[in-house]
Amino acid sequence: MAFSSFGDWLGLLATTALAQELAGSDYKKANFAIAGVFIVRLLPAVFLGPIAGVIADRFDRRRLMIVCDILRFGLYLSIPIVGNYLWLYTATVLVEAVTLFWSPAKEASVPNLVPKAKLESANQVTLLASYGTAPVASIVFALIAIAGAGLKHTKFATPADLALYVDALSFLYTAFVVYQLKMLPRGAADAKAKSENIGKSLFEGFKFVKSNKVISGLIFGMLGAFFAAGAVIGLARTFVGDLNAGDAAYGILFGAVFLGLALGISLGPKIFGQFSRRRIFGASLTVSSFFLLLLAMVTNLVLALFIVVLLGAFAGLSWVTGFTMLGLEVEDEVRGRTFAFVQSLIRISLVGVLAIAPAVAAAVGRHTFNVYHFHVSYNGAAFTMFGAGLISVTVGIVSYRRMKDRPNISLWSDIMMAFRGELGAITGATHQGVFISFEGGEGSGKSTQSKLLKEYLESTGETVLLTREPGGTDLGVQLRGILLANETGHISPRAEALIYAADRAHHVYSLIRPALDAGTVVITDRYLDSSIAYQGAGRVLQPSEVARISRWATEQLTPTLTIILDLPAEVGIGRLTSRDRLESEPLDFHERVRNEFLNLARVDPDRYVVVDAQQSVEAIQEAIRERVAALPLLKINKTDKKA
Ligand code: TYD
Repeated sequence: MAFSSFGDWLGLLATTALAQELAGSDYKKANFAIAGVFIVRLLPAVFLGPIAGVIADRFDRRRLMIVCDILRFGLYLSIPIVGNYLWLYTATVLVEAVTLFWSPAKEASVPNLVPKAKLESANQVTLLASYGTAPVASIVFALIAIAGAGLKHTKFATPADLALYVDALSFLYTAFVVYQLKMLPRGAADAKAKSENIGKSLFEGFKFVKSNKVISGLIFGMLGAFFAAGAVIGLARTFVGDLNAGDAAYGILFGAVFLGLALGISLGPKIFGQFSRRRIFGASLTVSSFFLLLLAMVTNLVLALFIVVLLGAFAGLSWVTGFTMLGLEVEDEVRGRTFAFVQSLIRISLVGVLAIAPAVAAAVGRHTFNVYHFHVSYNGAAFTMFGAGLISVTVGIVSYRRMKDRPNISLWSDIMMAFRGELGAITGATHQGVFISFEGGEGSGKSTQSKLLKEYLESTGETVLLTREPGGTDLGVQLRGILLANETGHISPRAEALIYAADRAHHVYSLIRPALDAGTVVITDRYLDSSIAYQGAGRVLQPSEVARISRWATEQLTPTLTIILDLPAEVGIGRLTSRDRLESEPLDFHERVRNEFLNLARVDPDRYVVVDAQQSVEAIQEAIRERVAALPLLKINKTDKKA
């Protein structure tokens, strides 16, 4: 398999290079010629794929594979010998058609060669053999190009010819290897005929995909990714030519993409493992599209290589996340059809892009602008890549938004949490409800304002639960007694933090989470930010550690919106008629609390709103309502849209 795939990749590089060579110095012709090679490579799969699978199942697999390899040997050998467009394309179609018979025979043979328990490892080896050989082939291609450069002006052979000869030999060798695998079962008897044709599988897949928001977002994104990939692949040879580089550079650029892909696929999911897959997918697609935009703007080959590795890495990350999600989110009985649908769509969109991109590139042509003493060249290939980049950035952003698993928590909040090293906060269980917390120092008017907000939301048709901390539950009432009674006296700051966290854990578990799951809007008078401010900053523990305890206690339940009622500590304390245990703390304690609240709000404006609590009750409530009304999940916003 490795030899055969190596041959495939080398063949792809060599035929595209040959297409460019045959076109001579005509930019238009070169673009179309290369696109032609890709298109004819994909066409057989689009039309013949399912039929070939069925036919392949009727033959002795081993013999079929040997025959296919010998045919491919002959076809690749003939391309440089004949040496014209017509045969280049004809032979390419034929090679592809032959491969369509070879692949199912190989696919079907593997499960017979390895025990069931090892099948997964076998699949990994298969992937490695089919894609891991691409960078090897590109290096070999580059070496051949360098070695063959000397031959360029002899009539004997060009680098592309040389690569095709090597390629032909690799297939001959594959035939020999398979010939020696005498224990391969013939297979025809246990064949499962897949008689579904491409049209039917397309339609069935489409029906399912349309009904599922996440899957459709996913597939939309994958199409975007392949759209961009198609543009890069189709334009790479002319792009490299525009940078005044030749076949060797083309081989290296090609290899760099695959190096990046391999890095992204193998390391990416581990590095970004704390983020949810749905977020990684759209985000990494967007990032890799940005690199595509960057690539289109550089005019330096070395720089281009680095960019291409990064582009490949993020594309690989979104590719592997996408496929994993597709496997996880699609139920078993429709999985086959959905995969078939996706693969057909991908092929069709690749053919489309490969046909359109060079046309655009050719239409734009080559331009050099002279600005004073500088020559600025801008060529069709780069221009078209830029366009493809713009489209795929848009696709990435749209699919990110579509698949957001927690629409009530912003990307910015996620990023801020990640920066603070609190990756755990990002992976919390999802909820669809609206969760609002009130925070602030002593005497800031939280109780009054939260009651008014509750009344307002109820008037808009929401079911609202107003609760508070500490003391939202029966257990909480007892803990509140301990925490606030002056008789408790001084207790260890850590013990205090843990008691608040215990109150919160039970509060979320028994009251808040069930209410949110039932679609209730939950308003709480104080939540975890109070612990961060009072125990973290006030008691001088590490705020991030205090936060972590609460995150663990609440299983990462984070408010949709946190309203901070802000006023100077002395004003708030001055409003009190009696003082409990915490209120009796000195003024600088309360100043630290206030500052911590403001700090929290400053770094995450998406989640926090700070309201000046020295205004009138009505003015404060007005400011709160304005912000709350902007929350997308509320009924007012849903009815507004209909109206
Ligand atoms: P508060 O909610 O202000 O109630 P009241 O308005 O009836 O006095 O009182 C709760 C007190 O507990 C307040 O002083 C802040 C403190 N507190 C913490 O120190 N950490 C926490 O995590 C929470 C929720 C409150």
